[in-house]
Amino acid sequence: MNPFVFKNPTKLIFGEGQNEVLAKEVARYGKRVLVVYGGGSIKRNGLYDHVIGQLKEINAEVVELAGVEPNPRLTTVKKGIELCQQHDIEFILAVGGGSVIDATKAIAVGAKYEGDIWDVITKKDTPQSALPFGTILTLAATGSEMNAGSVITNWETSQKVGWGSPFSFPTFSILDPKNTLSVPEDQTIYGMVDMMSHVIEAYFHHAENTLLQDRIMESILLTVMETAPKLLEDLQNVEHRETILYCGTMALNGITQMGLRGDWASHNIEHAVSAVYDIPHAGGLAIIFPHWLRYSLDEKIERHVKLATRVLGVDPTGKSDRDIALEGIEKLSAFWTKIGAPHRLADYKIDRSQIERMAGIAAENGEFGNFKKLNKEDVENILTAAL
Ligand code: NZQ
Ligand code: ZN
Repeated sequence: MNPFVFKNPTKLIFGEGQNEVLAKEVARYGKRVLVVYGGGSIKRNGLYDHVIGQLKEINAEVVELAGVEPNPRLTTVKKGIELCQQHDIEFILAVGGGSVIDATKAIAVGAKYEGDIWDVITKKDTPQSALPFGTILTLAATGSEMNAGSVITNWETSQKVGWGSPFSFPTFSILDPKNTLSVPEDQTIYGMVDMMSHVIEAYFHHAENTLLQDRIMESILLTVMETAPKLLEDLQNVEHRETILYCGTMALNGITQMGLRGDWASHNIEHAVSAVYDIPHAGGLAIIFPHWLRYSLDEKIERHVKLATRVLGVDPTGKSDRDIALEGIEKLSAFWTKIGAPHRLADYKIDRSQIERMAGIAAENGEFGNFKKLNKEDVENILTAAL
């Protein structure tokens, strides 16, 4: 494996009933609190009232930023930064899914940054500090609750950019599976595809001797695949929600990627697609990933064979490595289709008209992909196959 240093400072507060510790956690950081949330799901499921009630207990002065969009926008981040400055905010609390948390990360860094936050997001400059922030996660998917990553869309320039810094880890994240009971079926499906994709991105690497990492990744994938159909049968089942919630965090909190470098090209391609079409992140992944897998088949086929035989249930007897790998990809694709994920770009009414543009966005900084290098033409081929 590659030499590595691992540090993850986020305090993970997991399990039923953990909402109750919110006031105590926030009180460590200050009284003037910006509460950031999305389009209103937390008002409908009662979490908003609970959060505000707890903040009242510590006499917090609450300022709100509502309406963070799925695929959060730079304009919203800038609104949040202004609120922090106007109200001399001491702590930010994100209550929502990955979009709310990602926006909060950019607001927290932006509030302490003199220049334009877009320069940090596009890596022209590195931040030196941030306001502290915590999260209450309401949707199992991105892992943003326990990592430093954030993805922000600049709609004016059609760019959706991932960034991160040592200052963009949440100080704490509260994960109560009951907060995810109201997640509708489609978002539940997207979340499970997203966490599986995070593991598969990491699984395709060139490091040697990653026996434990491989087993950790395989166990996350197997657990999601075992639980997904049960959860979709019974969306109110707290135990299944709990399992999936834990899988989502473990899939992208850094643990799977110790000593290896995953590929991440499929995420980059998906970000280009949602920068142009504003589709759900994991809807795009479910469509793109199987085509990337076929495209990367000849890169290091052992990785494909391992995934196919250990996770996707392919019997290797009498088959060539290539056939095993291809059967694995079919099985993955069939699993995602079976649980209700989209299958083709046409499912989102995406035709070939914008393919060149999306490929250009994905490859705007040159070749990318750590397992298999891709250029603009490769992206065009992958997207065309996915039409
Ligand atoms: O906005 P509200 O009303 O809250 O509704 C949201 C939104 O419509 C709803 N929702 C969330 N929790 C709910 C709920 N509805 C009912 N009950 C609840 N408990 O779900 C919808 C989608 O929410 P969103 O936060 O957009 O979803 P997700 O968590 O999948 O986040 C997607 C964003 O994260 C980025 C994606 O690109 C996308 O922008 N990613 C972030 C990563 C990271 N920071 O590490 C990694 C990922 O690969 C990903 O790129
Ligand atoms: Zn993702």
